[in-house]
Amino acid sequence: MNTFTYEYPVKQYFGEKAAANHLPAELAKVGKTVMLAYGGGSIKRTGIYDELVEILKDAGKEVVEFTGIMSNPTYAKVQEGAALAKEKQVDFILAVGGGSVSDCCKIVATQAKYEQDIWEMEYTDHQIPTEHIPMGVVVTASGTGSEQNNGAVITHEEKKLKAALWGAYAAFAILDPAYTLSVPMKQVISGAFDTLSHAMETYFGQPEEVNLSDELGEAVMRNTIRNIRKVIENPKDVSARSELMWASAMAENGILKIGKVTDFQGHMIEHQVGAYTDCNHGQGLAVIHPHLYRTIYRDALSKFARFAKEVWNVDDTGKSEDEVAQAGIQALADFIKEIGLPTTFAEMNVTLDDDMVRKIAESTVFTAGCCKKLTVDDIERILIQCK
Ligand code: NZQ
Ligand code: ZN
Repeated sequence: MNTFTYEYPVKQYFGEKAAANHLPAELAKVGKTVMLAYGGGSIKRTGIYDELVEILKDAGKEVVEFTGIMSNPTYAKVQEGAALAKEKQVDFILAVGGGSVSDCCKIVATQAKYEQDIWEMEYTDHQIPTEHIPMGVVVTASGTGSEQNNGAVITHEEKKLKAALWGAYAAFAILDPAYTLSVPMKQVISGAFDTLSHAMETYFGQPEEVNLSDELGEAVMRNTIRNIRKVIENPKDVSARSELMWASAMAENGILKIGKVTDFQGHMIEHQVGAYTDCNHGQGLAVIHPHLYRTIYRDALSKFARFAKEVWNVDDTGKSEDEVAQAGIQALADFIKEIGLPTTFAEMNVTLDDDMVRKIAESTVFTAGCCKKLTVDDIERILIQCK
């Protein structure tokens, strides 16, 4: 286990009526002007908007609405939100939605405190911002675990980059599984696969040697796989949705990462595919993972063999370690098919021409935690296999 420091600032309110039960006390701690931030309007259809506006009004807040946050939020949208927050002198941001709303708000909360451009500050000057408007998140679609950390994935359209920016931590996360009942099943599954991917990408990080974080990660992976199957069988299964919601939080609250350098190479590839095509994150990961793992598994053979046995129940009798590891990757690929996720970009209606493939490969970040030192040509080959 590597040396580590672990501190965790996000308070969790989990379960039925979490907003009604806990939001009033949280709002009492913050200033009068609250930015209510949300996406394309699902919260109006589900009634979550009405419920939250009533709680905000009862708390005596002046509400400033910041709406239309798109999936794969853009840097332009961040700047729009930051300008609004500055103009209205917002005291607190309440982000209501999935990973996209939460991510956008983390950077709005930060950019609103600085004159300097946050992208330049982080990527050119290599400074991490320390000032933020305080914020909280009400999760309506789980999977990314974005509400648990201060990383945000933002698409800079002019630069053709989808990259991480560091912003605000939420003071609290409201996690009511019933809020996720209205999420379309395709998004439920892609969100839950994102959770599985976060756990895998942490597990296959460094060191390869198994530690407690990895054993907890195996439990999160098994739980996620089981509950994806359950929620497909019965979309109204609130218990399965609860498990998926907490698994999503567990994969991104830092616990599984303790003592490890994470991998996240699959994410880096997917983010750049997203920068060029605006594709769905969880679906993109589903296409990429089996090809990526077939490319790298020999460099972490014992870990991939363990993954096969502990997560996918592969019987190793009479098999070599290589065969066991390959059977685990095949089990993952079979599961992706079983749950109706795409296995090619074409199935996602995403077309990558040769020029785009090369540009994506060239702009993909190589991670320190990946077991194999990949090259641009390796990424290009993986992308071609994914087409
Ligand atoms: O915009 P609205 O109308 O609200 O609809 C959303 C959106 O269309 C809908 N939705 C959300 N809650 C709903 C609902 N529909 C019905 N009922 C509800 N209760 O769901 C759709 C997808 O939402 P979105 O937030 O885009 O999805 P997700 O949560 O998967 O977030 C994806 C973004 O998070 C980033 C991804 O790259 C992507 O940009 N990630 C953030 C991470 C982080 N900060 O830790 C980690 C991840 O690896 C990921 O990269
Ligand atoms: Zn992800």
